[in-house]
Amino acid sequence: MQGDQSILDLGCALGQDVRQMIADGVPDHLVYAVELEAGFIELGYDLFLDRDTLKSHFISADVLEKSGPCAKLAGWDGKIDIIYNGRFLHCFGRDDGLLVAIRMTKLLNNRPGSVIVGECLGGKLDREVVAPVGKLHLYSVESFKEMWAQAAEKTKVEFKVDVQVQPAGQAQMAHFGEDVVSLVFWVERS
Ligand SMILES: C[S@@+](CC[C@H](N)C(=O)[O-])C[C@H]1O[C@@H](n2cnc3c(N)ncnc32)[C@H](O)[C@@H]1O
Repeated sequence: MQGDQSILDLGCALGQDVRQMIADGVPDHLVYAVELEAGFIELGYDLFLDRDTLKSHFISADVLEKSGPCAKLAGWDGKIDIIYNGRFLHCFGRDDGLLVAIRMTKLLNNRPGSVIVGECLGGKLDREVVAPVGKLHLYSVESFKEMWAQAAEKTKVEFKVDVQVQPAGQAQMAHFGEDVVSLVFWVERS
């Protein structure tokens, strides 16, 4: 990160990665975070004992805005230089995944070079799998790129998409199949 770039952790859970970014040197006031479950954000403050000191910006919101537009989220539109997705995109089916990609594009600063980075589960074949928490969508490298091409078409924003395949954890392979991988991605606004 450079200068006063802002970073958003989308689907931040307890905000453990938010605290890691700060420990790694990112000024806390430049870190933004969104989480569906308000209770997770509260648990994070309780766990890290920083409710009164942490200057990062958390909101509880549904990035899909299924119950209508979220004014707080809209307040961040166009302001985020880096969006980080930790194990997030596989939580949505293919259609909702596209909506998330489109919503992230709105949040992203319109300067070339602003990026969406992260990691999600993937597979050799694009498919849905059933996990204890519900259905997950495993993108293949090709379907991941295709989804971003659709998002680019809908938003009229051009992206360079880089996806690297890395080994998934043993537990994930045991649960979902030997071909399950981790997709590490870098989606950069051209
Ligand atoms: C698999 S967890 C990953 C959490 C964290 N990023 C990590 O790497 O450990 C996905 C997180 O996204 C949140 N989430 C799921 N759907 C969401 C939505 N529509 N809007 C915002 N957050 C959502 C979940 O509540 C959960 O905390």
